[in-house]
Amino acid sequence: MTGDQIIIFDTTLRDGEQSPGCSMNTKEKLEVANALVELGVDVIEAGFPIASPGDFEAVKLVAERFGDRSTICGLARSRPDDIAKAKGALESAEKRRIHVFLATSAIHREHKLKMDKDEIIRRAVESVKDAKEFCDDIEFSPEDAARTELDFLCEVVERTIEAGATTVNIPDTVGYATPNHYFKVIRTLKENVSNIEQAVISTHCHNDLGLVVANSLSAIEAGARQVECTINGLGERAGNAALEEVVMALRTRADYYGVHTKINTERLFPTSRLVSNITGMKVQRNKAIVGQNAFAHEAGIHQHGILQERSTYEIMRPEDVGYSGQNLVLGKHSGRHAFRDRVRELGFDLDDDAMQRAFDDFIVLADKKKEVYDSDIIALIDSRMVDAPDRWKLVSFHTSAGSSAIPTATLELQCDEAPVSCDAAIGDGPIDAVFRALERVIDLPARLEDFSVRSISQGKDAMGEVRVTINVMGRHYLGKGVSTDIIEAAARSYLQALNKADADRQSGGGDDAVEPPPQP
Ligand code: KIV
Ligand code: ZN
Repeated sequence: MTGDQIIIFDTTLRDGEQSPGCSMNTKEKLEVANALVELGVDVIEAGFPIASPGDFEAVKLVAERFGDRSTICGLARSRPDDIAKAKGALESAEKRRIHVFLATSAIHREHKLKMDKDEIIRRAVESVKDAKEFCDDIEFSPEDAARTELDFLCEVVERTIEAGATTVNIPDTVGYATPNHYFKVIRTLKENVSNIEQAVISTHCHNDLGLVVANSLSAIEAGARQVECTINGLGERAGNAALEEVVMALRTRADYYGVHTKINTERLFPTSRLVSNITGMKVQRNKAIVGQNAFAHEAGIHQHGILQERSTYEIMRPEDVGYSGQNLVLGKHSGRHAFRDRVRELGFDLDDDAMQRAFDDFIVLADKKKEVYDSDIIALIDSRMVDAPDRWKLVSFHTSAGSSAIPTATLELQCDEAPVSCDAAIGDGPIDAVFRALERVIDLPARLEDFSVRSISQGKDAMGEVRVTINVMGRHYLGKGVSTDIIEAAARSYLQALNKADADRQSGGGDDAVEPPPQP
């Protein structure tokens, strides 16, 4: 291993969840937390316990289940109530951290907090001491540090370390920093804060100017030893530093940075896919490290070079990040064993029942489609993995549409053991008609807020994936469906979202809806 270890602090479940439209319910947060533990992240910021009862519960459950494997962190403003909530949520974690923050820049002091410098220092010190009574591992963030006067920033950092902070995080809250500027900020702290060696310096950057990863790496060069990041770069506004990009930059350029992380890089691609599925936030095709095109060589000269010697045009091996590409793998006559082996190679760990369901889906698909690609298998399994309480099941549907016909849908649904229910509706097109018919049968009016369709693999017989977000009585629900028929994929995605809303209706509320918590 090269040099110092960089602590990877993942905030997908906190800052990542603040991305517009990316809220997760408790079950989904636990799934992501499990993936982060498998990935090997050192610290998981599981949420902001005072933000809502749902956030509190999620942090508590993550702490209970995973607090012996990764450090679980809860966010708190510099207020006694916030810190008390964080303590309550983290109680059962063996490895726990409270992350306290208070803004320090002149803009925030004057306009948001209406506090002078002395008051900021007094509050920051008090809250670090309060948190310290609960655990040793305390992080303090001077919010908007990158726009804070350097001498004042040094003073705040020194005083909070004196009060017990073991990590001092230097947030570029509004994404204002540039690499040289941020380097200078971190270096100034290293050179001027007398007790800086008693704490780990951490970087927390935002991508408003598209410089988030560059700034984070610059901070490491200047001496930071913790990076705060999120899977796929999710986060407030333009997002936080993408964990996969920071980790692979440090690994690929270990010759230059001379540091290492404990991340199991082969889990990067599957974790990215899981987070994208759960949040509904797609990964752009040409996204570094985890985009579909990240390892696709189009130019003939490049392909030729790769065939001679991979390192001519490849600085990372796809398998090192768990990337599986679009290989043609199986067909109708591939057996159960070949399928199972491929599923494992793709990074899924399914129990016998889930494997059987996946195989059944694969056989149906292979009947419709000559060539089944890895991406088809991934989509089939992912669509089953979404934690949908599917009380209502699609039995059959029929649509008719055309340039001179009124688009109509009829469908049959099975609910638990009840007899099959059927209904029909007309709409603006066949998909709209299907959505209306589903709402009629389930008796749940919904507003469609987002609809997207994409092709999973290549060819005219490729599977289509439809994702929807619906709004039912002010709550948002995501749904996803895949099929070679996009009307069926749309029906399945809408039904999945309605099933989630129906489960909430049955339980008189519940937390399956994705409600954004108040922002820090
Ligand atoms: O961006 C920011 O300043 C934050 C703090 C709460 C650390 O997310
Ligand atoms: Zn942030």
